[in-house]
Amino acid sequence: MSYYQKHLFFCTNQREDGSPCCSDHDAQAMRDYAKKRVKALNLNGEGKIRVNSAGCLGRCGEGPVIVVYPEAVWYTYVDQEDIDEIVDEHLVNGQVVDRLKI
Ligand code: FES
Repeated sequence: MSYYQKHLFFCTNQREDGSPCCSDHDAQAMRDYAKKRVKALNLNGEGKIRVNSAGCLGRCGEGPVIVVYPEAVWYTYVDQEDIDEIVDEHLVNGQVVDRLKI
């Protein structure tokens, strides 16, 4: 069994050259929000869910991006409601949120 049941990686990469990057979309604040929400729901820790910052995940033009493993489902998001939906539907209910998939 893997140490974490699910792992969310938020790209929080910042590009200095003006090209698209996830930090242009408040990625760090959204990652912090997701981490707090997962903790508030007591979903964090061994055998449960881990939320991490990541460097560039290579899909910058589609950002901001999140990838959830082990399912390898990619999402984008606009606001905290989108993060709530990913947490509630994907992490809690096990249902992929099709409208946010990339
Ligand atoms: S900057 Fe986020 S995927 Fe590249």
